[in-house]
Amino acid sequence: MDRVTWLLSLLISSLTVVGVTSSRASVEAVRRNLLANGLGKTPPMGWNSWNHFYCDINETIVKQAADALVSTGLSKRGYTYVNLDDCWGELNRDEDGNLMARNTTFPSGIKALADYVHGKGLKLGIYSSAGYYTCSKQMPGSLGYEEQDAKQFASWGVDYLKYDNCYTDGSKPTIRYPVMTRALMNAGRPIYFSLCEWGDLHPALWGSPVGNSWRTTGDITDNFDSVMSRADVNVMYAEHARPGSWNDPDMLEVGNGGMTKDEYIIHFSLWAISKAPLLLGCDVRNMSKETLEIVGNKEVIAINQDPLGVQAKKVREDVEVWGGPLSAYRFVMLLVNRNIWPANVTAHLEDVGIPPKTVVQARDLWEHKTMETLLETNISANLDPHTCKMYLLTPIA
Ligand SMILES: *[C@@H]1O[C@H](CO)[C@@H](O)[C@H](O)[C@H]1NC(C)=O
Ligand SMILES: *[C@@H]1O[C@H](CO)[C@@H](O)[C@H](O)[C@H]1NC(C)=O
Ligand SMILES: *[C@@H]1O[C@H](CO)[C@@H](O)[C@H](O)[C@H]1NC(C)=O
Ligand SMILES: *[C@@H]1O[C@H](CO)[C@@H](O)[C@H](O)[C@H]1NC(C)=O
Ligand SMILES: *[C@@H]1O[C@H](CO)[C@@H](O)[C@H](O)[C@H]1NC(C)=O
Repeated sequence: MDRVTWLLSLLISSLTVVGVTSSRASVEAVRRNLLANGLGKTPPMGWNSWNHFYCDINETIVKQAADALVSTGLSKRGYTYVNLDDCWGELNRDEDGNLMARNTTFPSGIKALADYVHGKGLKLGIYSSAGYYTCSKQMPGSLGYEEQDAKQFASWGVDYLKYDNCYTDGSKPTIRYPVMTRALMNAGRPIYFSLCEWGDLHPALWGSPVGNSWRTTGDITDNFDSVMSRADVNVMYAEHARPGSWNDPDMLEVGNGGMTKDEYIIHFSLWAISKAPLLLGCDVRNMSKETLEIVGNKEVIAINQDPLGVQAKKVREDVEVWGGPLSAYRFVMLLVNRNIWPANVTAHLEDVGIPPKTVVQARDLWEHKTMETLLETNISANLDPHTCKMYLLTPIA
C-alpha cells in the first residue's frame, strides 16, 4: 500500500465507524438513508453499449442486444437491463428544450425502443451527464435541465439512468447529483439511479440517499491490470455496500477479447463477490461459448444476487484471499493468484469470518463440484498464474 492509499483507507475506516453506529439505529433510519425508489435490492444485471460499441450505436444494435439476452437465456438468469450509454441523442435540444434521440441512428425514438425492450420482458436504461454536455460532447448533458429530462425519461418508459460527470460547471458532485435524484423521484416512474462520478469525491461516503449505486473508480479497460486495480480500489469501500446501495467498479469486459479465459473468470468472480452491478460490456449478439459459460454461471450469479447483500473483502494480501458472509449462514471465499508464477495457497476458514471449530462443506463454483472432504480449519489450492478458485462454504456442524 502506498502512502496515499493508506491514508485513504484510514479515512474510510474512520468514517465507516460512524456508518456502522448509525446502521445499528432503527431499521427506519437505515431506510431513510437509502434512495427510496425500491430499486436495486440486489445488484442490477444487464448489458450496456459502451465497452464494446462506444459511440457507434443505433436502435438496430440495441434491439438485437435485447433479442440476444433473451435467446441466450441470460435474461432468465437475471440480465434484464438493456442500457444505452453515450451518443444516443442529437447535439441540440428541440425548441422546447427537450432532448431528442439522434435522428439518423435512433429514427424510431426512445419511446419505441423502450416499448420493444419492455415487450421482451426487459428494461431500458439511458445515459446523461451532470454537465453541459455528455463525455463524447456529441449531445447535451442534463445540468440545468434535470426536472425536464427526468420527466422526459419517465414518459419514454426509461427504467435506469447512468449519470456521468463531464463538462460540469465546476461545482462538486454532491451539489449536482442530488438535483437529479430529486427530479427522478418526482418523475412518476421508478428509475434506477447510477452515479458515475468515477469515485472522485468518494461517493460511497454520501451516495446512499442519492443513488442506487456509484462508481468507485475511473473507467475500466479490457486488461487484467485494469480489472485488479479497480477491484483493489472498490474493496476499500466494502462497508458501504448494502441492498439498494452498491459500489460500482465499472462494467464488465468479459468477452471483449483482451484477456484470457482464466482472467475473465477472475474478473467475473471479483465483480460477483463484490456485489457489483453485472453489466455485460461485450457484443452479446455474438458471444463465444466460453463467454456465455462465464457470464451465465448460475452459481456465481447467485453469490452476486445473494439477499444478504454484503460485499466481500480482501482478507489477506499475501496470498489474496477474498471472502465474506452470505445469507443462511453461508460464506464465499475467492483465492486469486494475480502473480505470474504459480502459488500454493492455504486460506483459513476464519479469514472469511467462519468461527473456529466449524466444519464446512466446500463447493467449487467454477468446477461445479462439491468437495468430498469436509474442512475444519483451512482450504488449499495450487493456482497457476492468473487463475482463481471460488468456493461456497456451508457450515454443517
Ligand atoms: C433529421 O436530420 C436531418 C439531417 O440531419 C434533418 O434534415 C431532418 O430534418 C431531421 N428530422 C427530424 C424529424 O428532426
Ligand atoms: C446500425 O448499425 C449497423 C452496423 O453498423 C448497420 O448495419 C445498421 O444498418 C444500422 N442501423 C441503423 C438504424 O442505423
Ligand atoms: C463475432 O465474434 C468473433 C470472435 O468470437 C469475431 O471473429 C467476429 O468478427 C464477430 N462477428 C461480428 C459480426 O462482430
Ligand atoms: C489444514 O487442514 C488440514 C486438515 O484439516 C490439517 O491437517 C492441517 O494441519 C491444516 N493446516 C493448517 C496450516 O492449518
Ligand atoms: C501445495 O498444496 C498441496 C495441496 O493442494 C499440497 O499437497 C502440496 O504439498 C503443496 N506443495 C507445496 C510445494 O507446498
